[in-house]
Amino acid sequence: MSTSILVLVGSLRAGSTNRQLAEAALEVAPEGVDLAIFEGLADIPFYNEDIDVEGSVPAAAVAFRDALAAADAVLVVTPEHNGTIPAVLKNAIDWASRPFGASAISGKPLAAIGSAYGQFGGVWAQDEARKALGIAGAAVLTDVTLSIPGSVVRFAETHPRDDAEVAAQLEAVVRDVAAAAAPQAAA
Ligand SMILES: Cc1cc2nc3c(=O)[nH]c(=O)nc-3n(C[C@H](O)[C@H](O)[C@H](O)COP(=O)(O)O)c2cc1C
Repeated sequence: MSTSILVLVGSLRAGSTNRQLAEAALEVAPEGVDLAIFEGLADIPFYNEDIDVEGSVPAAAVAFRDALAAADAVLVVTPEHNGTIPAVLKNAIDWASRPFGASAISGKPLAAIGSAYGQFGGVWAQDEARKALGIAGAAVLTDVTLSIPGSVVRFAETHPRDDAEVAAQLEAVVRDVAAAAAPQAAA
């Protein structure tokens, strides 16, 4: 029986260093741990309670909630935009947070990591992601952290998978998330 981890990437650009980190995380996952990047975040309309009613929920939001529900845990990989999380990620969190008290993310083990250009590697954004997702109901793994500074410089020529230090850090993150998810996977 495998453990499934849904990966949410907070950057939409094709050359995203955070997407590359997510790709590397997929590759270093140990046997029995399956990671999948959720590809539809950009297709989810802005959250609006008027359309979050039975029969009106956009298909992209339904697909997102279904993917969350099917996962044993969640890994957020995000850069920092103006000191906080990118809007696409905040929108996804708002959709994930409802129905209040019975959302698809409720109780899911979740870690937030990432890379940003600044010297702190986007730690504000990853902290904000933890805060918002904790309020949304996720079981945030506050001690599973990784904030890599200098994103576009460090990964200009080297994909994270080929950076031995980063690959080892990612493997540790994946193992920690999978360990936290194990009780859910077994349920
Ligand atoms: C709109 C915008 C705001 C940004 N704000 C920050 C910031 O507050 N802190 C920071 O470290 N980097 C900031 N950056 C730089 C990003 O961290 C950097 O471009 C990063 O590599 C983006 O992630 P990606 O490579 O996954 O697309 C910002 C970039 C953009 C486009």
